[in-house]
Amino acid sequence: MPISSFTPAITEKLSEQLGSIQLHRITPYIVTDINKITKNLDGFAQHLPDVGVYYAIKANRDLPVLRAIDSDVRGFDIASLGELNLLMKIGIDPSRIFFSNPVKIPRHVKAAYKMGVRYYAFDSVNEIAKLAKYAPGSNVYLRLKVSDNGSKFPLSKKFGLDALYAADYCSLAQDAGLNVMGITFHVGSQSENLQAWQTAIELVGKTIDSLEARDIHITMVNLGGGFPADYGEPIPLLKDIAGCIKQAQKDFLPENVELMAEPGRYVVANSSVMVTSVIGREHRSGSDWLYLDVGTFQGLIEPLEMPGWKYPVWSNKRAGGSDKSFVLTGPTCDAYDTIGFDYTLPSDLTVGDKIYIGAVGAYTSVYATRFNGFLPPKTYYIGLETNV
Ligand SMILES: Cc1ncc(COP(=O)(O)O)c(C=O)c1O
Repeated sequence: MPISSFTPAITEKLSEQLGSIQLHRITPYIVTDINKITKNLDGFAQHLPDVGVYYAIKANRDLPVLRAIDSDVRGFDIASLGELNLLMKIGIDPSRIFFSNPVKIPRHVKAAYKMGVRYYAFDSVNEIAKLAKYAPGSNVYLRLKVSDNGSKFPLSKKFGLDALYAADYCSLAQDAGLNVMGITFHVGSQSENLQAWQTAIELVGKTIDSLEARDIHITMVNLGGGFPADYGEPIPLLKDIAGCIKQAQKDFLPENVELMAEPGRYVVANSSVMVTSVIGREHRSGSDWLYLDVGTFQGLIEPLEMPGWKYPVWSNKRAGGSDKSFVLTGPTCDAYDTIGFDYTLPSDLTVGDKIYIGAVGAYTSVYATRFNGFLPPKTYYIGLETNV
């Protein structure tokens, strides 16, 4: 198990890196360490050197992040025209972009095709028709339904075609003038199940065989995302996941098939810390509540998706003395902005104290709203030449 990078020591590191600036920043704000992101990508390249990385920008689309990793990744996975426009803004060649959202807005497909994007996912007859009309002749890859057991954020109910129908759907796509060249899947985000990739790749292998019988030749397998990030809890090591993937590749896939992946959370989650302030403390409904200047609506939304989901949290006060359980809630007039119901923190926390929320680099700032007039937290970057 990896040692969590979220210890109180990070507070000191943060203060050191931001220097006196931290004292003057208005909370809430996010500090993103670009070096951590490049280190995560180095780790991926080390353990899976033959897998092309197409970073899923839905996890974090901050321009400094995209610019910083451009040369470390093969390309990018997008979900929408909005994401494509961001990549165009920083000069990414459209040939490096995979439009992997299985159900796309038709207008977005039309625009993406016009801009030069030629790789699209599909998992339905409707999508085949859409792609044939708006992205004629493009390269397409089938999103298979696979087990997402052991993932924190499952996806398999919403997306993916049952392998049983793969050959028929791929023939249909081929007949519609599309070039069926790949298969993709997603084992669910933050997957903690080593076997998930193995089982999925075995299914892909069988599907490739069934397509060969129809004279459809698969040259690319896209492993999707799901690689787990460090949230301070034990997770499988990437080295072990990579071992499972390589073994499954050997056992189930033809030699000429190229592998790619679309990691999002793994790349960026542990890069960022949110600095927040306590704005209220009350004893209500049998619990001690800390009201923070940030809540689910400013981006910390994943506890709503996955009840019980916890971020690594610590404070400016020394932990381990006399601690107690707190409900951490946000600043809006809505109760749904509550981040969690059982965070152990120093018992003497009060208005003005700082709470640090770790591992907020993925699926946080991208979710932030302006509900109740509270603005999305500003991000400062460390490990970059400019800024802070
Ligand atoms: C098509 C696709 N690829 C990649 C990802 C990234 O997944 P993760 O952040 O779990 O790595 C997602 C997440 O929803 C996705 O939908």
